[in-house]
Amino acid sequence: MISVTCVVANEVAFGSSFRGEHGLAFFIQTPDAAVLFDTGQTPQLLAHNLEAAGIRLEQATHLVLSHGHYDHTGGLPHVLARMERPVLIAASAVFETKLSARHAPPKPIGMPLPREELALRTRLTLRDEPTPIGRYITVTGVIPRESGFETVDPKLLREAGGRVEPDPLHDDQSLVLETGKGLAAVLGCCHSGLINTLRRVRRISPRPIVAVLGGSHLQPAGNAQITATIEALRTEFPSIESFRLNHCTGWKALMALREAFGDKVQPFAAGEKLEFI
Ligand SMILES: [Fe+2]
Ligand SMILES: [Fe+2]
Repeated sequence: MISVTCVVANEVAFGSSFRGEHGLAFFIQTPDAAVLFDTGQTPQLLAHNLEAAGIRLEQATHLVLSHGHYDHTGGLPHVLARMERPVLIAASAVFETKLSARHAPPKPIGMPLPREELALRTRLTLRDEPTPIGRYITVTGVIPRESGFETVDPKLLREAGGRVEPDPLHDDQSLVLETGKGLAAVLGCCHSGLINTLRRVRRISPRPIVAVLGGSHLQPAGNAQITATIEALRTEFPSIESFRLNHCTGWKALMALREAFGDKVQPFAAGEKLEFI
């Protein structure tokens, strides 16, 4: 049995005691590992929602970061207070100085803790290649950009070599779960693009992709990208039976996907838990 609990998301299950914020965190339990994937935006909210879900971080075997943005890494101080030198897996660009051009001057939107501190307080594992965690989980590593219609939001910047420039978000990655029925892709913020990410997943394992969970980053996408994404999902990934999308997916894209794929498309709110046989 593999379970995925949505611990933090923008969306909250109606009437539940969970709190919402712009951020994302999942807790994934497999027969041989327990992984916290991202940490949400704030330590307090992560702590509250973990308690509401009955999850003790002391049970976790690994911490994985989808990328360095604050809405996925801001809860790290709470994680480090509860986990003794956890294995932390992330891509090598995760510590780059990240900025948002939605503010003038551009505002820092990166990690809450510096690399030196995380190197001391975690068993830091920076890898850009696919990385297995036990038998059932693989971290995708850096995702090639090949679809042609998915581009990184130009308002997201990085500081490199004294220059501020568009951030290629090479640190963006997702997880692949080996469930009994097929693969489940668990997305963080999917800055690399949904189709690029699913193509990467397909190269990691030949089994069919049956589920896609998490943030698809279609919120800033225009109609042309949404249409091209739906077309690619239809032609390249017809095996997907369930889309449980949240965070940066956006209502417009969620509705377009629902129109295309019907009840297969649902939100995934904080407090909800999916189980895969
Ligand atoms: Fe992000
Ligand atoms: Fe995000």
